[in-house]
Amino acid sequence: MSQDNLKLSVARAAIVHVPEGQIIGVGTGSTANFFIDELGKIKDRIAGAVASSVATAERLRSHNIRVFDLNEVSSIPVYIDGADEITYQGAMIKGGGGALTREKIIASAADRFICIADESKLVPLLGAFPLPVEVIPMAYALIARRLTALGGKPALRMQDGQPYRTDNGNYILDTRELQIANPVSLENEINNMPGVVTAGLFAGRGANLCLLGTPDGVRTLEF
Ligand code: A5P
Repeated sequence: MSQDNLKLSVARAAIVHVPEGQIIGVGTGSTANFFIDELGKIKDRIAGAVASSVATAERLRSHNIRVFDLNEVSSIPVYIDGADEITYQGAMIKGGGGALTREKIIASAADRFICIADESKLVPLLGAFPLPVEVIPMAYALIARRLTALGGKPALRMQDGQPYRTDNGNYILDTRELQIANPVSLENEINNMPGVVTAGLFAGRGANLCLLGTPDGVRTLEF
């Protein structure tokens, strides 16, 4: 079974977890895109969605799903998104697609975080995937030195020969070789560096449930 088929299978499985008549949070990335396309088929059963990126908002609107600003919404029963890595404890690395900050904000507002991923994302230890860290542009060299002091190898994300800009206008440092034995403590340490907008570690607020696509079917992991 192809990776895309595994992503499609978890996107379909996630539909069962969409509450009737509510506004849900929707993530960003290729797996989230499969989910949005499935959500389009049941759009009349939800009130709308809060999007974690400009790209997700556009895709939701293309299915005529109403997109709400987070400031208009007082509760989000569920946030559904992919991950770059997820542990057996539900801690994640996210931000490969660059939407980590808005993803983290909506995840923090949601009652439940449901991660949808193919089985390649399940890892015993986070860190083989470079950790994205969103930074204020004026501070990127400073933060790069601090991440290096932590043992990481940060690289400024580039696009078309220019620093990649997030939806918030910031830069991303993709950081390899960090030892992530304690994801909560590293998340707090990086988030506390002035100039960091957010680290792509989702550990303090990890997933509540993971729907994992495998060739034998969708596995459900509860945390
Ligand atoms: C977007 O910024 C990311 O956090 C994605 O959710 C994550 O990278 C997973 O993306 P894929 O589903 O494309 O692997």
